[in-house]
Amino acid sequence: MSQAQPPLALLAEMSHRCPLRCPYCSNPLELDRGSRELDTATWRRVLSEAAALGVLQVHFSGGEPLVRRDLAELVRHASEVGLYSNLITSAVLLDRARLGELAAAGLEHVQISFQDTEAASADRIAGMAEAHEKKLAAAALVREAGLPLTVNAVMHRQNLEHLPEMIEMAVRLGAGRLEVAHVQYYGWALINRRALLPTKGQLDRATSVVEEARARLKGVLTIDYVVPDYYARRPKSCMGGWGRQFLNISPAGKVLPCHAAESLPGFDFPSVHEANLAEIWYRSEAFNRFRGTAWMPEPCASCERREIDWGGCRCQAFALTGDAARTDPACALSPDRDVLTAARDDAEAPPSDFVYRQIGGAPTKTTATS
Ligand code: SF4
Ligand code: FES
Repeated sequence: MSQAQPPLALLAEMSHRCPLRCPYCSNPLELDRGSRELDTATWRRVLSEAAALGVLQVHFSGGEPLVRRDLAELVRHASEVGLYSNLITSAVLLDRARLGELAAAGLEHVQISFQDTEAASADRIAGMAEAHEKKLAAAALVREAGLPLTVNAVMHRQNLEHLPEMIEMAVRLGAGRLEVAHVQYYGWALINRRALLPTKGQLDRATSVVEEARARLKGVLTIDYVVPDYYARRPKSCMGGWGRQFLNISPAGKVLPCHAAESLPGFDFPSVHEANLAEIWYRSEAFNRFRGTAWMPEPCASCERREIDWGGCRCQAFALTGDAARTDPACALSPDRDVLTAARDDAEAPPSDFVYRQIGGAPTKTTATS
């Protein structure tokens, strides 16, 4: 048995189906079709295995988790086995009846993503008409039901100028927390990077806005903010380190160390059909490959931050260098740092059109705004 600690959190991707088509979706380019999704009995077993393994929190996510009619049953089961349950949703399918069902089943927290503060822009980014209006209505229902709300604001060059309004909207909606989440560039976001990566000037203005709002709204709204990797000097500790705190289960049942790992070649990620979660977490080659520090190349291997950021993000290292075992180029000490410099220069040029997320078929485009 390895020396790994038990995971803290499980991201349960219930489905890749989603009414929205966001061009920065964190799901893989190859989306699982509905026919491949795990059935209710298997999800119940997996949730029980997660609790037995030591997981404390389950985040029901997707795609859009509300497309699953059995969601309330699974929330109830999570609650019965002692898991804290959070719903991460686009909220466009969340009505009073559905929310009541979930709250009665023991749901403890709701996180709603917003694409922008102006309906026309938000709906264009989401690729769905009237999405913004539905989200506002759903957020009000969440607060009416007495559930804590987090607003998840995915920010990029086409909405970053509206950050002050986003903060005010979160306050108005009664959110306790706002995650100012800069787009992470893998999967769909990587092919849309020219449309999404902010300029350095935009980022500097956003950082001042957050600093001012944090001071002004102390005790009212907690604002989580991480500088986007492409402008950082040191990488984030992605997932708190590979195989250290977190596991992800895809709609078809693959068990992954992060939501983007399916895109990494040369991995045989185990399925919940083949083994139980404890075996996968402690013994699988996939979870042990980048666990700890033994796998690290220089400059990470002898760096004093190696047990702080764990060498950054494996998926980003692969996306940018073609090798998941290299130092994340988000680190200024990485020998591959020049790939980020080139992408930042690109951000000064006019944005490209969006390639919208979709299951199967050719991607569609729309006109970008600057
Ligand atoms: Fe982190 Fe590696 Fe950069 Fe050190 S060299 S700061 S461990 S990514
Ligand atoms: Fe996969 Fe960072 S997203 S390790």
